[in-house]
Amino acid sequence: MKALITAGGHGTRLRPITHTQNKHLIPIANKLMLQYALEYSAEAGIQDVGVIINAGDTSIERAFGSGESLGLRITYIPQSAPKGLAHVVKIAESFIGDEPFIFYLGDNILVGGVQRFVDEFQSQKTNCHLVLSKVPDPNRFGVAELDGNRIISIEEKPSKPKSDFAVTGIYLYDSSIFKAVNSIQPSTRGELEISDAHQYLLEKGFSVSFSEITGWWKDTGKPEDLLEANRLVLDSLKNSVQPADFPTTTVSGRVSIGKQCAIENSIIRGPAIIGESVTIKNAYIGPYTSIGNQCEIQNSEIEYSVLMEGGCIRDLNQRVSGSLFGQNVLVKRRQGKPNNLRFMLGDQSHIELI
Ligand code: DAU
Repeated sequence: MKALITAGGHGTRLRPITHTQNKHLIPIANKLMLQYALEYSAEAGIQDVGVIINAGDTSIERAFGSGESLGLRITYIPQSAPKGLAHVVKIAESFIGDEPFIFYLGDNILVGGVQRFVDEFQSQKTNCHLVLSKVPDPNRFGVAELDGNRIISIEEKPSKPKSDFAVTGIYLYDSSIFKAVNSIQPSTRGELEISDAHQYLLEKGFSVSFSEITGWWKDTGKPEDLLEANRLVLDSLKNSVQPADFPTTTVSGRVSIGKQCAIENSIIRGPAIIGESVTIKNAYIGPYTSIGNQCEIQNSEIEYSVLMEGGCIRDLNQRVSGSLFGQNVLVKRRQGKPNNLRFMLGDQSHIELI
């Protein structure tokens, strides 16, 4: 069994962060998003992984190299432009060959990995196995119409969904999927849609089985989904701090703190993860917060947020909440007059003042 994982696309809904960084390298609970997909593959006993990247983007290969440290052999497959998920499968045909494979969207995060779905696919011996999840907003996803325990149709982002079962970004196939992706035509938005490939399999009589995710699963397309994924991963964090480690600071709940941090006169309420060489002084770090390496938080409060490497928050007199900060971001209060707001923001930045 092989794995095919996506790390291409434009990540438009996560701008401005994705102006300078591939979305799949955004940290969730201080681990790169794509690493979850790679680890799930290794845990399921898969060694050969194809990773789809945007042509010319070397950042993913710089982060994961040959994959050896994760017990994997990674082959990077460049895609000339994001022409759709069925196009991704199409260009991976020579890498996959005749083997069955799991196709995993690198921006999906789920609890418990993928072993269970691999086992179900192998025991059911179908041509295609999909993983469904009930969602409140099915029009954002591929949607499966069910008749008992059979899928009868699949539509991509329908305006009138026929069910509330989203098709998640975890698909298992044998080589009949190549017949489908080589037969379908681009959709009205110009992409070769994976849902059209699934519909093709259904119409041509190939066997399509499914499992349902009963735990949590997140497609991290939007900033709020990313914060939710961060929250859900932090929910299973283990505590690694002893009360005596930081004598002037109160640490409660499950908290992980990296090496060489300077933490004084603060309150840290987990679940929260703090990277290495972080300075925290006279601050409050609230639940569901991830703080990257070399960050600084002084005289400020932050909760339910992600602060990436090198970020600095200083002297704010209002608590920061539900926020996502890219690398090396600085937010501070300046003393003195005039008492005005001063910004230097990149394209498509978002600021909300209350
Ligand atoms: O997350 C589940 C949903 O994923 C499914 O329900 C939909 O049926 C499926 O089309 C897909 O929808 P999204 O709108 O979320 O797909 P998105 O364009 O965000 O791309 C998903 C992943 O694939 C992400 O890792 C970026 C990557 N990608 C995307 C395209 C279109 C590529 O690498 N190349 C591409 O051409």
